[in-house]
Amino acid sequence: MALARRLCWCSAKIAGSSKPFASAPCSLPSRRNVCSSPSMRQSCMSAWAIGQYGTNEVLRYSEEIPVPTVSSPSDVMIKVHATSLNPLDVLMRGGYGAKLLKLRRDPLSVMDSGCEFPLVLGRDVSGEVVDCGSEVTHFAPGDEVWAAVPPWKQGSLAEYVTLTEYEVSHKPELLSHTEAASIPYVASTAVSALVNAGGLCRDTSSDKRVLITGGSGGVGTFSIQLLKAWGAHVTVTCSQNAEGLVRGLGADEVVDYTAGDVAEQLGTMEKFDLILDNIGGDTEQQAMGLLKPWAGAKYITLVTPLLLNTDSMGLLDGAVNAGFTLHTKAIQNLISSGVFYRWGFYVPDGPALDEITKLVDAGKILPVVEAQFPFTQVPQAFQKLEQGHARGKTVVRVTEKNDRQAEELVQDACREAAESEQDMQGSAKLQ
Ligand SMILES: NC(=O)c1ccc[n+]([C@@H]2O[C@H](COP(=O)([O-])OP(=O)(O)OC[C@H]3O[C@@H](n4cnc5c(N)ncnc54)[C@H](OP(=O)(O)O)[C@@H]3O)[C@@H](O)[C@H]2O)c1
Repeated sequence: MALARRLCWCSAKIAGSSKPFASAPCSLPSRRNVCSSPSMRQSCMSAWAIGQYGTNEVLRYSEEIPVPTVSSPSDVMIKVHATSLNPLDVLMRGGYGAKLLKLRRDPLSVMDSGCEFPLVLGRDVSGEVVDCGSEVTHFAPGDEVWAAVPPWKQGSLAEYVTLTEYEVSHKPELLSHTEAASIPYVASTAVSALVNAGGLCRDTSSDKRVLITGGSGGVGTFSIQLLKAWGAHVTVTCSQNAEGLVRGLGADEVVDYTAGDVAEQLGTMEKFDLILDNIGGDTEQQAMGLLKPWAGAKYITLVTPLLLNTDSMGLLDGAVNAGFTLHTKAIQNLISSGVFYRWGFYVPDGPALDEITKLVDAGKILPVVEAQFPFTQVPQAFQKLEQGHARGKTVVRVTEKNDRQAEELVQDACREAAESEQDMQGSAKLQ
């Protein structure tokens, strides 16, 4: 199974309470981590959920959200220790993608007015396996794992999340849960864009010049490090005050988009083999002329109109319109300059995260955590994200007690207690 899960980077297709379970793993010698279902003593969990779409006021803390139990043989149930927020969470809170995601959650919902609420947001998880379906072979209760939760599934701003085995990966040993939670969603998106859409991999990147627009955010800070680990030459656009951050992560050249005409500055540079666009809009127009013509160069944007279209035009018209837009732009760019125009999307991919785990444990990719919030302050975390100007990721600590920082706090408290006890003993002897 481990072999089957291994990602072949080169042949990439182009293309608060916590004791509800008694863990009872079997130990069959031939199948690692075959596990039985623990008895379920808890049917509800605490989570931040929305009961309607809107602004931050719709976020509600509830202790009555149904626990997402293992319902299929390939399910893995995870106790969430930490999660992080992505721009998608703010957008989904406001109803972004509601029609398409509702269809993906429940295809029969087109026939009725089925309700997606209460909806739990949160796309990243770092935590511990507490239950597995009968066919899960790669994980067992107690395993420390990380994953990116697909937007059509109940999210990770909750005590528990349940995913399929394919979506889950063992977490890097070097990282605390708080650190690990900053990576899976942006990593899965970056891998999907750079590998699946961009055709890059570890063995083919060393002679590539890559431009990342919006390099200071979540996807950008991860992508810089992945591409540098693969040996690519990386140019980044960001604000002047993010230059130190992106250079520290390995960016070779940095262009301050707030200091004059960014296209003019980039136009003076050698042309690029691939552009990963995290900004969209005017950036897309400017980017096309920056790519090497007739050399297989690729433009990949993460800012696509698909979900906006299906929201505003309806599922069929929106999807057709988005498909037409993509097709038209792809053909125009191919005919005029031999450049491949593509849209990049997050794709759930546990095996890709396995590879990222190796890079993290080898010290080649670092977590970039800009801000941390306790589980009690999820609305404040959303506010932080909505202010924009991200410098890496905003993390929410869901379970404090197993977090390394919490452990350090406890250790500090013990040390202080021991020191004060020694002081007291010392002063008692003097008396
Ligand atoms: N299609 C998908 O499946 C998918 C998946 C993940 C993300 N996305 C999208 O991809 C985009 C990036 O995601 P993210 O998580 O990295 O967002 P993020 O964390 O919010 O980062 C965006 C970064 O861009 C910077 N920025 C803003 N305007 C800029 C400009 N004109 N030029 C250069 N930098 C600029 C921001 O800082 P300053 O404003 O301070 O410069 C910020 O650091 C978002 O639009 C997100 O919704 C799409």
